[in-house]
Amino acid sequence: MKQDTIVVIDLGSARTTELAREIRALGVYTELHAHDLTAEQVAAIPNVRGFVLAMGPRRAYEGQELEPSEAILGAGVPMLTVDDAADARPDLDAFVAKTGAARNWSMEAFIADQVEAIRAQVGDGKVLLALSGGVDSSVVAALLIRAIGRQLTCVHVNHGLLRQGEPEQVVRVFREELGANLVYVDATDRFLGKLAGVADPEQKRKVIGAEFIRVFEEEARKLEGIAFLAQGTIYPDIIESGTKTAKAVKSHHNVGGLPPDLNFALVEPLKMLFKDEVRACGLALGLPEGMVYRQPFPGPGLGVRCLGAITRDRLEAVRASDAILREEFEAAGLRGKVWQYFTLIPDVRSVGVREGARAFEWPCVIRAVNTVDAMTATVERLPWPLMERLADRITHEVPGVNRVLFDLTPKPVGTIEWE
Ligand code: XMP
Repeated sequence: MKQDTIVVIDLGSARTTELAREIRALGVYTELHAHDLTAEQVAAIPNVRGFVLAMGPRRAYEGQELEPSEAILGAGVPMLTVDDAADARPDLDAFVAKTGAARNWSMEAFIADQVEAIRAQVGDGKVLLALSGGVDSSVVAALLIRAIGRQLTCVHVNHGLLRQGEPEQVVRVFREELGANLVYVDATDRFLGKLAGVADPEQKRKVIGAEFIRVFEEEARKLEGIAFLAQGTIYPDIIESGTKTAKAVKSHHNVGGLPPDLNFALVEPLKMLFKDEVRACGLALGLPEGMVYRQPFPGPGLGVRCLGAITRDRLEAVRASDAILREEFEAAGLRGKVWQYFTLIPDVRSVGVREGARAFEWPCVIRAVNTVDAMTATVERLPWPLMERLADRITHEVPGVNRVLFDLTPKPVGTIEWE
């Protein structure tokens, strides 16, 4: 990257990510590095203009040498020591001015840079991408389409556990609007076949993950001459609370389990972006807002919201109730204000009355939560009329559902998902 860089060094602070983001918001590109970074690592970072030493009380560093020496950081590069324990907030703007770093970190500059970098890496080679329709893979797709057009092949595997309208949106946006080379695979029957009778949540995740890799691999083998695999890895995936610890490839979306004979080189153009920057990048590339601001959605999809062994009728009840919930949240102006909201259908029935007759049907549970990091969560206080409307619509419009319940449990004790 051509930008000037300010390096934030994690010396036990709990605010390293925040600091790195705040400096980027001032227009200067930042990188986060661990307390034990070496002179060679520093030399590999382009255009280092300054260091922020982010001190804090984190126990992991007790008894260790914390301050990197001038021999490592280089003499004369401006440095700012920030301590979590200090009362005053650091004046980052003044520090940025002191470093003389060019304030040229912008999405337009990032996109232009990456387009060039992708073209340089890929040449006239072909690239494959598993396009889930989630924010990260969608933005990678849009960026690669901008850079290399139809040298990219996107594979969208519909495992039958997506929300209503999602596979159709992926096809419409990428194939029809952006002109992508998109392979759409409806593997619903395969997935539901494998999942038949599987009731344990972790087993369900394993089945879905393994089958996803199998389907993706089959599609990859049908294509010829693919040399690169693109992934939607983002910065939080490779930093762990601001340290250098690299995490294993996350969940099944990143297709970490492809066999070694499919020997692809990786293309990861978003790996230095924070989530909000990924969204800004998507918008700048023309992706629809609904796709860019999509709420978090688990890899196993509605599969972990159709509790216990998945059946088609209950799965359809999850999908239909989820669609109503999203519609009503949108109408109430809550889209984008509540972090995650969804419905789930447990595998139990209760007695009700429908048109004068006994109706032995499922309940639908509604969960709406807010969180910063998904480690803890609080429950959104929904307006009573909205709750009544949801109860009314779901019991009348979703076949097989005769009750609506609201889950008021924070995390902990409850997790966000039920499975
Ligand atoms: P929990 O239920 O653990 O969820 O409180 C925390 C966040 O993670 C999402 N989640 C998943 N995401 N694969 C994913 O990609 C999964 O298997 C999975 N399980 C939970 C969940 O939706 C929430 O946002």
